[in-house]
Amino acid sequence: MPVFLGGFAFAILCFVALNAAMVPVSRSEYCGGKCHEMNTAYVTWELSPHGANAAGIRTECVDCHLPPKEEYFTHIAAKAYTGAKDIYKHYFGAEYDPEKMRKKVLDHMSNETCLHCHDSLLAKPGNSAARIAHVASLAQPNAPENRCVQCHEDVGHQRQNRLFSQ
Ligand code: HEC
Ligand code: HEC
Ligand code: HEC
Repeated sequence: MPVFLGGFAFAILCFVALNAAMVPVSRSEYCGGKCHEMNTAYVTWELSPHGANAAGIRTECVDCHLPPKEEYFTHIAAKAYTGAKDIYKHYFGAEYDPEKMRKKVLDHMSNETCLHCHDSLLAKPGNSAARIAHVASLAQPNAPENRCVQCHEDVGHQRQNRLFSQ
């Protein structure tokens, strides 16, 4: 019995420690500032509608690049895996190729990720082009032309130079 209780207490402690450790590494400043590979991603995110908007609500790196936080264990596992992979690649991997990575991320960004927050797309008054696009996108999410990032490629990272091109 004491062994069991000890084990139980240890498990709880680990759980608490894990959660505490996750707080700093979940912040966008950490994700974007730790490695030089992420610098462009961080700066372009700050310029994007998700990094800065009139509503003052920031969408963090982890909200788009990891499974949702509500799926606790999948979220933690994905974070541990990508974190370890990033660290390994940082020290032992080939030179980071942002364009190649950009395409890879773009190919894998699922509609569910976006719909997790934008769940009332059709409820908003929006223009008719948007409405037609969104009806199609919700009806057939797997068609390549209906993927959210097909039309909204720049939402996470503002890559065009808005300061000079307008
Ligand atoms: C609204 C969703 C969203 C948010 C928030 C977001 N991203 Fe992205 N990210 C994307 C999409 C979509 C792409 C692929 C398209 C592109 O890069 O233009 C991408 C591409 C990337 C890439 C590969 C290209 C590169 O620049 O190296 C990295 C790395 C990255 N993101 C890291 C981050 C970091 C770090 C943050 C937070 C500071 C962040 N992302 C926030 C959606 C997002
Ligand atoms: C964690 C929540 C969250 C996630 C995930 C998310 N968004 Fe957003 N999005 C927001 C918020 C908050 C705003 C800014 C406030 C607003 O305009 O409603 C926004 C704004 C936008 C806008 C309006 C931009 C503008 O120029 O006004 C578009 C388009 C958009 N998001 C598309 C996407 C797409 C596509 C994805 C998936 C790659 C995504 N969002 C993922 C929360 C999120
Ligand atoms: C075929 C192109 C297309 C696809 C696919 C598409 N959209 Fe849009 N979206 C538009 C257009 C056009 C607008 C209106 C102009 C603008 O704001 O960029 C718009 C506007 C938006 C806005 C801002 C206005 C609003 O209603 O709040 C959000 C958020 C948004 N889209 C999210 C999404 C999400 C999430 C998906 C995937 C489920 C998606 N879009 C798929 C074309 C598209």
